[in-house]
Amino acid sequence: TTNVSAYSDEEILGMIDEKSGVYSPEIYTDESLYSLELERIFARTWVCMGHESMIPKAGDFMTSYIGEDPVVVARQKDGSIRVFLNQCRHRGMRICRVDSGNAKSFTCSYHGWAYDGAGNLVSVPMEKEAFGGCLDKKEWSPKQARVDTYKGLIFANWDETAPDLETYLGDAKFYMDIMLDRCAEGTEAITGIQKWVIPCNWKMAAEQFGSDAYHVGTTAHLSGILAGLPADFDMSQMQVPNTGYNINIGNGHACGTFMRNPGFFPIIFGEDVTNYLISGPAYEEAVERLGQARADVHTCHMNVFPNLAFLIGVNTVRMWQPRGPNEIEVWTFGVVDKSAPEDIKEQWRRHIIRTFSASGVFEQDDGENWTDMQAILRGHVARQTKLNISMSQETVSSENPDGFPGVSFAYVYGEEAARSFYRYWTQIMTAPDWDAIRAISPLPHAAE
Ligand code: FES
Ligand code: FE
Repeated sequence: TTNVSAYSDEEILGMIDEKSGVYSPEIYTDESLYSLELERIFARTWVCMGHESMIPKAGDFMTSYIGEDPVVVARQKDGSIRVFLNQCRHRGMRICRVDSGNAKSFTCSYHGWAYDGAGNLVSVPMEKEAFGGCLDKKEWSPKQARVDTYKGLIFANWDETAPDLETYLGDAKFYMDIMLDRCAEGTEAITGIQKWVIPCNWKMAAEQFGSDAYHVGTTAHLSGILAGLPADFDMSQMQVPNTGYNINIGNGHACGTFMRNPGFFPIIFGEDVTNYLISGPAYEEAVERLGQARADVHTCHMNVFPNLAFLIGVNTVRMWQPRGPNEIEVWTFGVVDKSAPEDIKEQWRRHIIRTFSASGVFEQDDGENWTDMQAILRGHVARQTKLNISMSQETVSSENPDGFPGVSFAYVYGEEAARSFYRYWTQIMTAPDWDAIRAISPLPHAAE
């Protein structure tokens, strides 16, 4: 495809300048770049739809989005999952207007065209009289996306030429497994997706979850940490963990880990879930399956390109649904080990709600920063003022002391993961097709 934005390929590639350690905040505001994102990012990458356990039975469905394109995600009789555009082929009304349910068919609320659970047009009111037998219903079903799953998470992709999901995720799987593969039975979702609006660009959220541990001890989460502490807590025991990594995983995926430092776990999880996570049979099983180093990752913040994020440990999963350059809907749900005891699952659910959810004490802090950053970019001068992204620039390495894949910086605060996210963004935005995307190098400074 051709570049439909107001910027040339050279200008887009120059929006992150790694030599000078700066980047251009227009990437958060420009309408034409946003149109190009919908086409070149969301319409050709693997986008997460939710968790398989949300639609366990034949006929179960939920509605979701690939970028701004609404889709129906439906479990079929043979156990497979279909994802199709939630748009009636008559005048384009939404075929399904609810969040989730179980149905044999979907009837458009405008004129009543009806589609079966697989997305085939099966019934048209007054078909014979009104269309005179000239309507070939087989020709008028909504577009189907490619569908695949990874350890419980459902993904969809519009692009026939994209690589398969496993290849697309690449080394991100290594880190996702810390949450998704602790036990043989895998994970299940906690019922219900929370949804709320934040007036900010989707990349602010994606980059923070991919790379930013730097904010944790400052504005962002000190108030939440204090609010969660028991009244008799000895403040001299309080320390922000600093052992871990900032990691460029490749393919735009990014993460950061807190390692071997479970000291803050009780603040987030309480004693019981903490003990479940760091000792006892569930922990032993995690060590067996993942190895010691990954089992001792005590929180990993992560973004799978483009818009799927995790806080592994807390086990919140979120999808940053873009709504124009200036707004996102945050969609989030929690996952728990399927084989965890029921009371642990229930406590885990409560702790997720208390910390990272629409009403969570930590959640508010992040959203407040992004909202104000986006508002500032309404200014003519602010929009053109380059921002600093130089942290850890000269000291990244592909030799990780724990053998973790990717290019890492051996400290929790770094920006290689952020740079790699934006670098990949500039590259995929200027790549005309998947052959060009496949040629993108994951190494730092590849654009030089
Ligand atoms: Fe769906 Fe007319 S728009 S039946
Ligand atoms: Fe945060």
